[in-house]
Amino acid sequence: MKILRTVAEITEFAKAAQQAGKVIGLVPTMGALHEGHLTLMRTAREKCDVVIASVFVNPVQFGPNEDYDAYPRRFEEDCQKLESVGVDAVFHPEPKEMYPDGYGTYVNVESAFTGKLCGGQRPGHFRGVATVVTKLMNLSRAQEAFFGQKDAQQVLVIRRFVKDLNIQVNINMVPIVREESGLARSSRNAYLSPEEKTAALVLSRSLKKAEAAYEAGEKSVEALKKVVREEIATEPMAVIDYVELYSFDELKEIETVNGESLLAIAVKIGKTRLIDNIILG
Ligand code: PAJ
Repeated sequence: MKILRTVAEITEFAKAAQQAGKVIGLVPTMGALHEGHLTLMRTAREKCDVVIASVFVNPVQFGPNEDYDAYPRRFEEDCQKLESVGVDAVFHPEPKEMYPDGYGTYVNVESAFTGKLCGGQRPGHFRGVATVVTKLMNLSRAQEAFFGQKDAQQVLVIRRFVKDLNIQVNINMVPIVREESGLARSSRNAYLSPEEKTAALVLSRSLKKAEAAYEAGEKSVEALKKVVREEIATEPMAVIDYVELYSFDELKEIETVNGESLLAIAVKIGKTRLIDNIILG
């Protein structure tokens, strides 16, 4: 596996693959890789000739009081994992390489849905994501890019700017990978104490309850959100940031579920903010 650290290095690698007529797949990550990330890599491996992963903790998508400094960084371990699933190259730049002095261009998705869910609670977050993902798409020359449903709103934001800016890349969304306990895999799970990790099971449990209610015939958005809130309330360590149920295409307000809809939650367990979701309908 090639380790690419500079814009010049990834450009040379991607250009050669493109000129050889290869289908290039891009899998952006911030590292501290787990099975969720590796499932994205395997999906890309199946669909593409050349797989480029990126490991970059992107400073511009973190707010001033967020966990940029504390975010886990384990590049050597990540490389072993990437190699084990057959990734061809990993791009691992320094922040200065991506945002050199004088850097001044940002991609801002101004659709109404950008400000909902995580966009409402993390101002500037999706501007940072859209900016870095645009740069990674340009650098990798990928025709296919892979993202997780774990960050479902991120997928919607990325699909929007790719369409609006006429970027020639296909966006693939991969289902959420969970631990056996139901907990959605996340690099931030590393912050949880054993006690908090048990408490964190309330996220997936509450979504499962709502899904069961939906399957038993409950279609009312208010009623389904109530099922989730009541289940989360049974866990004393859990504090709700949001529980929302929107249409999945553009996060439009709905009263009943009668098409693809996103039930998304953000919950603090101690100091750690966790997200999870399911798609109903
Ligand atoms: P990161 O949180 O490292 O996630 C990288 C990719 O892995 C994202 O597409 C995310 O949705 C996916 N992922 C994470 N946990 C998953 C799980 N349990 N199941 C399936 N997929 C999962 O998301 C980011 O990084 C950044 O915002 C990034 C897109 C790299 C831009 O900096």
